[in-house]
Amino acid sequence: MKTFKIGLLGLGTVGGGTVNILQTTLDEIQRRIGHNIEVSIIAVRDLNRPRPVDTTGITMTDNPENVINHPEVDIVVELMGGTALAKDLLTQAIKNGKHIVTANKALIAEFGNELFALANQNNVIVNYEAAVAGGIPIIKAIREGLAANKIEWLAGIINGTGNYILTEMAQPGADFEKVLKTAQELGYAEADPTFDVEGIDAAHKLTILASDAFGIELQFNKTYTEGISKISAQDIQFADLLGYKIKHLGIANRTKNGFSLRVHPSLVAKDVLIANVDGVMNAVMVKGDHVGPTMYYGPGAGAGPTASAVVADIIDVIRAQSQNVDDRVPGLGFRTDSLTQAPV
Ligand code: NDP
Ligand code: HSE
Repeated sequence: MKTFKIGLLGLGTVGGGTVNILQTTLDEIQRRIGHNIEVSIIAVRDLNRPRPVDTTGITMTDNPENVINHPEVDIVVELMGGTALAKDLLTQAIKNGKHIVTANKALIAEFGNELFALANQNNVIVNYEAAVAGGIPIIKAIREGLAANKIEWLAGIINGTGNYILTEMAQPGADFEKVLKTAQELGYAEADPTFDVEGIDAAHKLTILASDAFGIELQFNKTYTEGISKISAQDIQFADLLGYKIKHLGIANRTKNGFSLRVHPSLVAKDVLIANVDGVMNAVMVKGDHVGPTMYYGPGAGAGPTASAVVADIIDVIRAQSQNVDDRVPGLGFRTDSLTQAPV
């Protein structure tokens, strides 16, 4: 049994959710993986800001370099956002031999090629499940569950804020700015909500999904990007009269000449499953040549769902580092309690 030490960059919506899981569900997780997890150090911008979680026993710093250079940290978890500083910090962290977990889709979509190559040279893992579709384990589904397939296409609702806005705008009297403000208060929106409203966040995510699904390099600048800012309440009402809902979709296709990636508002017939994915929920359909069409549904943003994916990535790193540990072996983590017979 080893103690894996975590260094966190950021303790906002997702960072707070991550520490909350690693406090409230720690015993259950440790028992299952047969190792201990300790959050050792967290970097934030403002040390005086009140935090949603208890940070007793954790070193708090306003210098992120203290996290990436901390000699005992095994895994750096980047939940700060932004690209320039995050890229510099993770580059150094990888050179320092730290494994990386990040929820930063902008960073992965724009600089993932470089970071993955560097991680490969340094024999460290970079995991980014939380970067796409919040709590839905879509990266793992594509990389693991569907690994036997040639993926023909994928399509989905991959921005929770945008879907929340479109859903709320269908209500009489809804106001775009007020709805966006609520999405921000609920912790769904990006620090710069233009990313959500103009489709940039969805384009980042589609770039990542397509890279994993088709085994191609990340090519964010080749993704057609259109957001929901020009959709009015009247457009939604007209679509409704015609039997449609307006959904912001990300669509990646394998074509004769390569691949096509696009995000834009779409008319979806009301009786189609994805038309009924409302609020902050996301859904991704993936068509594999052997499995056929599959669909994955769940909350696409917010503290708990996103942190669930972050912690799963941390656990994956630990499992990959712990050879000879099978957490289904009694005594290592697997419970041997007898089942309670359910009443018939
Ligand atoms: P927040 O703005 O809530 O949190 C950002 C955190 O990073 C804050 O704690 C902030 O410190 C800290 N931080 C920012 N800059 C610095 C810096 N220069 N030095 C030290 N600390 C810094 O963002 P979120 O938690 O919402 O998002 C974090 C990441 O997760 C982003 O990449 C986002 O795209 C991604 N993501 C977010 C989801 C969501 O639902 N919110 C879902 C999926 C991914 P301080 O608190 O002191 O300001
Ligand atoms: N702002 C993003 C969204 C967060 O609303 O989908 C989750 O990636």
